[in-house]
Amino acid sequence: MEPQEALRRLIAATPGFMPEDEGMALYNLARRSRPSASEPIVEVGSYCGKSTLYLAAAAQPERATVLSIDHHKGSEENYPPFPYTDHKLVEPYSAQINTLLPFQQTIRLAGFEDTVVALVGASSTIAAAVTVTSSLLFIDGGHGALPAWIDYDGWVSSVKYGGILAIHDVFADPRDGGQVPYGLFLAALHSGEFELVLEVGSLRGLLRKNR
Ligand SMILES: C[S@@+](CC[C@H](N)C(=O)[O-])C[C@H]1O[C@@H](n2cnc3c(N)ncnc32)[C@H](O)[C@@H]1O
Repeated sequence: MEPQEALRRLIAATPGFMPEDEGMALYNLARRSRPSASEPIVEVGSYCGKSTLYLAAAAQPERATVLSIDHHKGSEENYPPFPYTDHKLVEPYSAQINTLLPFQQTIRLAGFEDTVVALVGASSTIAAAVTVTSSLLFIDGGHGALPAWIDYDGWVSSVKYGGILAIHDVFADPRDGGQVPYGLFLAALHSGEFELVLEVGSLRGLLRKNR
């Protein structure tokens, strides 16, 4: 069942970086990946939970789980000189972004507290400590070269055979956006492990081939 009207309104009101057409495509990829309690969806880059809502809407009917990873301190591109600072999310005393409370509020308002597990910390630290087989891995964390490649290297092997790797902000043309996620996309494609199954906006969906 597609996200209902109330959920769509909450998604629209949630701060974040997920246009509706890409969000619906992500939802459909997540449904296709057949998530389950033992093979959850893994998201790297929760921010305030906008993309998480699409993933959770796909997971909930299966009683599956979304593990959503973020240190909730924002990415380098959320700070000056980049234009993506949301000043409502900046703590007054530390001058640092904190998206943890808005994320928790988003998940609670949606009624997804039993579906979404927030893993709060650096993606690399959590990857080193946690072993999981994911139905779908969504990479939308830091877009700088170092954090993005750490996310890819730390999590890509979690995707089950027949599962989905989704990458956001993939731009082949540098005039449209940064090239790092595009590099991850090419690495997955050229590895021979994945085949492209979806292109919507800057979202790419890759199916992990069966052995
Ligand atoms: C582009 S935003 C995610 C947007 C979100 N998926 C949405 O739909 O609105 C990237 C997020 O990745 C997080 N992040 C960046 N580097 C990280 C790292 N090394 N470990 C954990 N989280 C990180 C930031 O805190 C930020 O919330």
